[in-house]
Amino acid sequence: MGTEDLKMQPKTGWRVYLAVVFASIGGFLFGYDQGVMSGILVMEHWIHYFNDPNEVERGFITSILLLGAFAGALIAGPMSERIGRKISIMVGTVIFWLGTSLQAGANSVDMLYAGRFIQGMAVGIYSTNVTVYQSELSPPHLRGRAISLQQFSIVFGIMIAFWIGYGCAYIQGDASWRIPLAIQLAPSVLLFFGCFFLPYSPRWLCSRGRYDEALTTLAKLYGNGDSNDPYVRQEYDEIMEQIRFEDEKAVKTYAELFRNKSIRKRVILGMGIQTMQQWIGINAVLYYAPFIFQSAGMTGTLPSLLATGVNGVVCVICTIPAILFVDKWGRRKTLLAGGSGMGLSMLIAGCLLKVYPFVEDGDNNTQAQYGAVAMMFIFSASFSFSWGPIGWIYPAEIFPTRARAKGASLATASNYLFNFVIGQITPIMITNIAYGTYMFFFATNVVCLLIIYFFYPETKNRSLEEMEILFGGEEAEAIEAVVARKHDNEKQEVSLDSHSSI
Ligand code: GLC
Repeated sequence: MGTEDLKMQPKTGWRVYLAVVFASIGGFLFGYDQGVMSGILVMEHWIHYFNDPNEVERGFITSILLLGAFAGALIAGPMSERIGRKISIMVGTVIFWLGTSLQAGANSVDMLYAGRFIQGMAVGIYSTNVTVYQSELSPPHLRGRAISLQQFSIVFGIMIAFWIGYGCAYIQGDASWRIPLAIQLAPSVLLFFGCFFLPYSPRWLCSRGRYDEALTTLAKLYGNGDSNDPYVRQEYDEIMEQIRFEDEKAVKTYAELFRNKSIRKRVILGMGIQTMQQWIGINAVLYYAPFIFQSAGMTGTLPSLLATGVNGVVCVICTIPAILFVDKWGRRKTLLAGGSGMGLSMLIAGCLLKVYPFVEDGDNNTQAQYGAVAMMFIFSASFSFSWGPIGWIYPAEIFPTRARAKGASLATASNYLFNFVIGQITPIMITNIAYGTYMFFFATNVVCLLIIYFFYPETKNRSLEEMEILFGGEEAEAIEAVVARKHDNEKQEVSLDSHSSI
C-alpha cells in the first residue's frame, strides 16, 4: 500500500464546497467583463452614441480592463495579507460597483475608459484572492478541483456575456448596451453579501495570531465541528509549524520574495506559468475569434459569431473534465497533453491556410477552411481542460503562507500584463503575417511544453506545507518531521483499523 492510500481524509463538509463555489463568482465576473465588450462594440446604438469610436479607441476600451487588472493584482497581495482573503474580495466588489456604474452610465468614451480600468482593478483583486482563498480552504485531494472551478466560472462568464449581448442587440435605444453592462451588478451584490457567511481562511487567521478562531474554522470545515478530530489537529499542527517560522521570516515586500532561493524559484515558476498561459495564444483566439473565423473563410458576421458562440460552449464543456479529474491526472501530464493538442492544432491550421489561403471572391477550398476552424475548436478544447485551470492552480499552491499572497499576486499580474500584450499584437499579426500567426503560436506552444517538461515539478496531492519539502525551502526540515509524524500516525491507525476489523 502506498503512502497515498495511507493519507488520512478529512470529513470535508458542505461548508468547504459552498465557500469554494461561492468565491468563484469572482471568476464569473472576470469572464463576463472580458466577454461583454466584444458584443457591445458592434452594437449600432453604442456606435452611434459614442460617435463611432475608431479602431484604436475600441481596442483600448476592451483591453484597458487588463491594465486595471494588472494594477489590481499587485495591490491585492499586500491587501490580502493585511485584511485577509475574504475581506479583500468584499473590497474588490465595492470597487467593482464603481466601475460598473461608470460604464453603464457612461456619456463619454473617457468615462468608459475610467470604468473599465476601475473594474479591471476589482478583477485583479478578485482573481488573486479567490484562488488563494480556494487553495487555503481545500484539502490537498480537492485543491485542483476547487481552483478549476474558478476557471470554469471565467469561461462560463465569457459565454453568458456573449449570449446576453446577443439578446440585448435586439433592444432599441441605449438600453441595448447599458443593460449588459449594468446586469453584472446582480452577481457582484450576491458575492458581497454572501461573503458575510463565508469562513475566513484558517491559514490567514493563524498568520494573524487568531489561533482559536483558526482551529474552530478548521473543525467546521473538516471535522464536522469537532476540534479534536485527528485530521483537524494535524492540519492545525502543520499550519502552526509553518507559522512559527513565518513570524520571524514573513515576506514584507515584493523585493524580499526574490532574496530567498527557494521562494525565488517558486515566484519564477508561478509567474512563468501565468505568462506562458497567455503566450500559448488562448486570448488571441477568444478575443478575435470572429475575425479569425472570417479570415479562415467564414464570411459574414452571423456565421463567424455563431462559430464564436460554439467556441464559448466548447470551452465551458471541456473545463468540466478538469474539475473532475485534475487532481487524479496531475499537473504536469495534463499541461503536456493539453499543450500538445494546442500546438498541433495551431500547426495544422497554419499549414491548411498556407496551402489554401482564403481569397475574397476567389476560388476557395472550403473543406480546408472549415478544417482550420475545427482546429480552433480543438485548440480551445485542449486549453480548457489543461492550461486554463492549471495556470491558476499552480501559483496558488506552491507558496508558503508567508509568501503566498504576494507570490500569487505577482503571478496573476503577469497573466494580465501579457493578456494585454497578446490582445494588442494579435490583430497586427493577423493583418501582417496571416498564417504566420498560427505558426507563431505553434512555436510558443513548443517552447512552453519544453519549459514544463524540464522545469516544473509535479505538485498534485501535496499539502500546502509539503510544498516546502518539494521546493527545498528553509522550513523543509521541520515540516518534514511533522509530515513524517503524520504518516506514522496514519500507518498506526490503518494497522489498528485492520486489526480491529479482523
Ligand atoms: C484563463 C486565462 C484567461 C482566459 C481564460 C479563457 O483564465 O487566464 O486569460 O481568457 O482562461 O478560458
